[in-house]
Amino acid sequence: MVVPYSAEPATDFTKEENKKAFKDALEQVKKDFGVKRPLIIGGEHIETDDQITSYNPSNKEEVVGHVSKATTEHIDSAMEAAEKAFETWSEWDPKDRAELFIRVAAIIRRRKHEFSALMVYEAGKPWNEADGDTNEGIDFIEYYARSMMELADGKPTLDREGEHNHYFYQPMGPGVTISPWNFPFAIMTGTTAAPVIAGNTVLLKPAEDTPLIAYKLMEVLEEAGLPKGVVNFVTGDPAEIGDYMVDHHKTHFITFTGSKATGLRINKRAAEVHEGQDFLKRVITEMGGKDTIIVDKDADLDLAADSIVNSAFGFSGQKCSAGSRAVIHKDVYDEVLAKSIELTKELTVGNPVDETYMGPVINKKQFDKISEYIETGKKEGKLEIGGETDDSTGYFIHPTIFSGLDPKAVIMQEEIFGPVVAFAKADDFDEMLEIANNTEYGLTGAVITNTRENWILACRKFNVGNLYLNRGCTAAVVGYHPFGGFKMSGTDQKTGSPDYMLNFLEQKVVSEMF
Ligand code: SER
Repeated sequence: MVVPYSAEPATDFTKEENKKAFKDALEQVKKDFGVKRPLIIGGEHIETDDQITSYNPSNKEEVVGHVSKATTEHIDSAMEAAEKAFETWSEWDPKDRAELFIRVAAIIRRRKHEFSALMVYEAGKPWNEADGDTNEGIDFIEYYARSMMELADGKPTLDREGEHNHYFYQPMGPGVTISPWNFPFAIMTGTTAAPVIAGNTVLLKPAEDTPLIAYKLMEVLEEAGLPKGVVNFVTGDPAEIGDYMVDHHKTHFITFTGSKATGLRINKRAAEVHEGQDFLKRVITEMGGKDTIIVDKDADLDLAADSIVNSAFGFSGQKCSAGSRAVIHKDVYDEVLAKSIELTKELTVGNPVDETYMGPVINKKQFDKISEYIETGKKEGKLEIGGETDDSTGYFIHPTIFSGLDPKAVIMQEEIFGPVVAFAKADDFDEMLEIANNTEYGLTGAVITNTRENWILACRKFNVGNLYLNRGCTAAVVGYHPFGGFKMSGTDQKTGSPDYMLNFLEQKVVSEMF
């Protein structure tokens, strides 16, 4: 028996002792700058000559560390190690696997600030966002461990005279986790831990912008006693090893979080059966979002502005759940816009080490892409605030609001993945819903209203995987808000849900005649 799941509490940084502990962790982590982290294949640490360098996006000359670069030969060895480890790991009692991971969570919890502090440097995360990222990683582990305990004995099926039936779950084999830089700990940990707790083995390829925080998980897995080869750490260039990992004839599943373009590519490639493969691959993708907050005419307008601003600008809008569109009833449009501009003026932007609200965006490519969208926005709407960009030291973009957008404008349709929000006006609630649904994505959305009928209508018609009433559209909590989207946002296998583990299990039925 374990205590019931509850989400890890956020650290209260208004308390002096917490602030001090975090500052100490920021100093501590700095001592490791420049470190070289190896590949880990079958438990063996392998350092390659060719390396990937991880920079601090707030201070682009600053090297946080280096990781080795896997080749396709390393992927073959990692797959062999994963296949070998599967033979024994899959035979462990599911409850023992789950308990090992509860130990993993306990170790991370003890070292929590160290993990979060590293993300301040490597991902440019503000303190609270980094803390949330570490907490969510712990939550995923705790939640999936309990899910597996519940599934360990299978589920009841009917018996009849002379016949006993047993319905149970078994793991599939080795698979691949390809994780993103925007939740470099939480999503990486969740999408690694779930298949592994289920009894599978994994090749983990973290994003090349944030490999060092992923290595921290490997350290903990080793400390907790995870058998060698169960998780293999294969950092590398996606162009060199990405397709190879997906195509590999021994890959049973691919869990991917990232861009729509890569997700579609993986989905297509995984459908092909390669020589030596006698099973179909499962694909779990979490792709983009173009998420909308709609504000009704009777809404609490302060709540509306606060929800819009925090959903748009938290972690510089670099969340697939970010609220990048505000669709507002014409009667309250001017007021909500004015309140949102006022709130935005209060936001601080700068190196997150100094406890700013917003840090940099992740890298030059994203900086350039977001800057281009800002130029497009200037042509399509009115720039109300922000628009300033500065990449002299790090990749800083100020929180930016555009107003007066046509619902079909480019910045109303395409995922920007930066601190930019577009405002559009609508005549009535039906039109707001129509605009909310007019993109190819269907991930999150929020409705700010005090009219129950409109909320009920939105529950049926607002076509997103995660819909929120009277709050922003980010910050899903594991176990409370199972997370995943419709349409081009992905395959909608909700993370942090009671069903998530089933993605990594085969269901078997044994019927015995008496
Ligand atoms: N789960 C995150 C959120 O809800 C996004 O990945 O903001």
